[in-house]
Amino acid sequence: MKALIIYASVHHGNTKKVAEYMADALPADLVDITREQAPDLSGYDIIGFASGVYFHSFHDSLKHYIQNADFERHQKVFLVATCGVGYIDYTKSIQKLLRQKNADYIGSFQCRGYDTYGIWGKIGGIAKGHPNPKDLKNAEYFIKGIVKHR
Ligand SMILES: Cc1cc2nc3c(=O)[nH]c(=O)nc-3n(C[C@H](O)[C@H](O)[C@H](O)COP(=O)(O)O)c2cc1C
Repeated sequence: MKALIIYASVHHGNTKKVAEYMADALPADLVDITREQAPDLSGYDIIGFASGVYFHSFHDSLKHYIQNADFERHQKVFLVATCGVGYIDYTKSIQKLLRQKNADYIGSFQCRGYDTYGIWGKIGGIAKGHPNPKDLKNAEYFIKGIVKHR
């Protein structure tokens, strides 16, 4: 089983922290889509897309990558998001995009991430300390479920 996690994490590195933790647990190759060359998906069996949430959605570079990606039938795809506000499922629009691309979507993980954007910065930020050890434990639990799909 070959796994890859492609991530975008431009605010506080919150998503990077989760993506690195998952990449260790799987194990998986890790690519920062905002800094590195877009990877070739062929040869991977499990592919994760991980992003901070910016204006209710994934980072544009990751969305753009997914829009242009070709998925093979055997490839399983999962999503990861970190966000300031915890009660909205921000992966839904990307799930829809994956369905349109006929990708085999197998699940998503979301947790809160320290957020100092805009007004939140003036009050010291929200979701301080996240992703915290409990979030990472939940991420590990999620990844164990993902591994069963291989
Ligand atoms: C420009 C910007 C827009 C954001 N928009 C949202 C949002 O719509 N909903 C939300 O819950 N969090 C929002 N956040 C907070 C981030 O999603 C959160 O801090 C996330 O963990 C950042 O991940 P990162 O550190 O990996 O970039 C926003 C942050 C920034 C910088």
